[in-house]
Formats: sequence, C-alpha cells, structure tokens
Amino acid sequence: MLDSYPKDGDIGEIYLTEAEIQARVSELGQQIANDLAGEVPLLITILKGSVLFAADLMRAIPGAVEIDFMAVSSYGTETKSSGIVKIVKDLDESIAGRHVILIEDIVDSGLTMTYLLNLLGNREPASIRACSLLVREGQQAAGVKVDYIGFEIPPAFVVGYGLDYAQQFRNLPYIGVYTGPGSGAEH
Ligand code: IMP
Ligand code: MG
Repeated sequence: MLDSYPKDGDIGEIYLTEAEIQARVSELGQQIANDLAGEVPLLITILKGSVLFAADLMRAIPGAVEIDFMAVSSYGTETKSSGIVKIVKDLDESIAGRHVILIEDIVDSGLTMTYLLNLLGNREPASIRACSLLVREGQQAAGVKVDYIGFEIPPAFVVGYGLDYAQQFRNLPYIGVYTGPGSGAEH
C-alpha cells in the first residue's frame, strides 16, 4: 500500500488553498495583460520553485506571451539564502528590447530578486518588472520593489505549489507551513 503523502505532521497550518491561489493567479495574469497591452511579455522563470506559478500565470494572460527559464543556486542552507547567486542555467534568448517580467516563488530577504533584477536590467530590456507569488511580511532588507505580489505571508517556512523543503512537496496544490523533520517544529 502507498504511504500517505504528505506524512502526518509534515504540514502544519495551510496558508493558501488551491482555490485561493488559482483565483489570485488569474487576477495577476489579467493585470499583467492590461499593463502590457499591445506588447508580448517575456516571463522569466526562476527554476525550480517558480515553475508551477509561471505555468498557471502564463495561462491566465489572455494574449501572446513568451516564457524562458533561468536556474540559479543561492549558496544558502535549506531554509536561508545568502544573496550570493550563481547562474546555473542562463536564458536561451536575448532580452534586449523585450518587456520582461521576472517570476519568483517567494521573496524573503529580497537578495535573490535584487541580484537578478540588476543582472537582467543590464541586458537592455525595454522594461523589467518583478512578480512574486509570495512576499515575506516585513522582511525585505534589500528594499526590492516587487510590482506584482500574489500574497504576503508570515515568517514560517512554507512548502507547496512549487516551493520545496529539500526538493520535496513542490507538487502540493496548496501552500502550508513545513513542520516535518529538520523544521525545528517536530516533537
Ligand atoms: P531571498 O533571497 O532571501 O529573498 O530568498 C528567496 C529564495 O529562498 C526563494 O527563491 C526560495 O527558493 C527560498 N525560500 C525562502 N523562503 C522560503 C520558504 O518559506 N519556502 C521555500 N523556499 C523559500
Ligand atoms: Mg528553493
């Protein structure tokens, strides 16, 4: 018999249900389409956490849209990023003259987003905007401006809808607090 997934105790409070996420993603898609009417936005998706969000957001934009991917590693621990970002996979296409939207799963300290906005901003896009499904309340030490925010969330480490703990739980359709082994919350 299959083990239950996620295991009892792995997920605590559910912050965002599947329906809440999907409703908000639809709104963001409409907003982006309105703001960039007449242009073809290029969604730059940061692997791996933003993949589910980007796939849904792309379908919520009622018009032409393109997508490209970038993989970065942030020299952090499982639960904290250091702000020093290494590009593991760069974009396939030039972004010169393009209207770029950088898609993140979560902005915590803002260090990763700030680094990537600077890097891509130097490649002469026509415009660059930041979009993050989640923003940690009161945590943007780096002072990054996020143009499109899905939800603000409290400090706890969360998983689901693309977000992982040690590569697991990305496939949960909801977002909840990770309380399993290594979280510090187990008893
Ligand atoms: P920042 O550079 O501190 O803003 O961290 C952003 C990155 O840290 C995100 O792209 C995530 O990969 C990771 N991260 C931060 N908080 C969480 C969380 O609660 N769950 C899963 N990943 C997180
Ligand atoms: Mg991650």
